[in-house]
Amino acid sequence: MKISLAPLQGYTDWVFRQAYDKCIGGIDEFYTPFLVLQNSGEIRTSHKREVEPFVERNKSLVPQFLAGSVAEFQFFETYFSDLGYKKMNWNLGCPFPLVTRKKKGSGLLPFPEIIKDILENAYSGKIDLSIKMRLGLEEKSEILAVLDVIKQFNIDEVIVHPRIGKQMYKGSADRDYFQELQNGFNKSMGFNGDISTLEDFESLHAQFPKLNHVMLGRGVLKDYWLPAKIKGIEIPTVAIRKKALRNMHDEIFSTYASFLSGDTQILQKVKPFWEYFSAHFEEERKVFKGIKKSGGLKKYHEAVAFAFQQNIKE
Ligand SMILES: Cc1cc2nc3c(=O)[nH]c(=O)nc-3n(C[C@H](O)[C@H](O)[C@H](O)COP(=O)(O)O)c2cc1C
Repeated sequence: MKISLAPLQGYTDWVFRQAYDKCIGGIDEFYTPFLVLQNSGEIRTSHKREVEPFVERNKSLVPQFLAGSVAEFQFFETYFSDLGYKKMNWNLGCPFPLVTRKKKGSGLLPFPEIIKDILENAYSGKIDLSIKMRLGLEEKSEILAVLDVIKQFNIDEVIVHPRIGKQMYKGSADRDYFQELQNGFNKSMGFNGDISTLEDFESLHAQFPKLNHVMLGRGVLKDYWLPAKIKGIEIPTVAIRKKALRNMHDEIFSTYASFLSGDTQILQKVKPFWEYFSAHFEEERKVFKGIKKSGGLKKYHEAVAFAFQQNIKE
């Protein structure tokens, strides 16, 4: 069973992925948050940093992209294969109206004919392709015609987050519908969505004993040892875990400080990190409040010191 880390724009950037791999471990495959091609025909520097191996040389990294046309798809396949990647992941799940209105992300799911056109005329097969998708934009049945298209092509696997786009993150991942999708589908289908505890995983595994890929998102950000628990690896003691959390924070902080300039820029990156990270502490809310209201780096470091004086959760 492969355990991968879901892409979370703003949270699982290269700084996070690298620190996690170094300080915690247990993830078999990482996905970048989606890359986009700007109107100018270029990729933002921050997006390039996600994949160009300036720092990160993680072999299990799968770059993800948004594409709504043959030209965009071809651009990314060439870009990633020139960089030496062996796999890439097409995002057919993003639910944000700014994206879906342009017929990208889950906005492509009601248009299986466009998906077919792109696969037929853009995908050369130079790199393995996987697709991360929701069930639909407006209706969950939209996925059925899309899977019929996907079946016709040489695609490595699909990873399904069983919600529709217009739901955003409301409700829960629809496991029963996921089960229906597997009937008659001839490729590997990974599962993603709402796996936050070992119990969540165990009930998923009981329902889908043959599942070979589970992609974890917010659950890992709130419990760094979730992958280890799932794999049955012994969890380190509280003292060792607290030290690992401290290392993780310090690694993230020092990496941002090494290439960003000024307190404001650094704080803009490290504060969101604590939105999930503070879930490791018993005084979760107090810890996060302290970080959130810290105005400059001096106050920030005081808030971090306060956090690490607290107990971490068992
Ligand atoms: C803040 C945020 C950013 C996200 N960014 C991406 C992204 O760049 N690409 C993508 O495919 N999914 C993205 N997702 C969706 C997650 O990868 C995942 O499908 C979703 O959170 C459900 O899994 P989870 O319940 O395990 O978190 C994002 C989700 C959140 C909450």
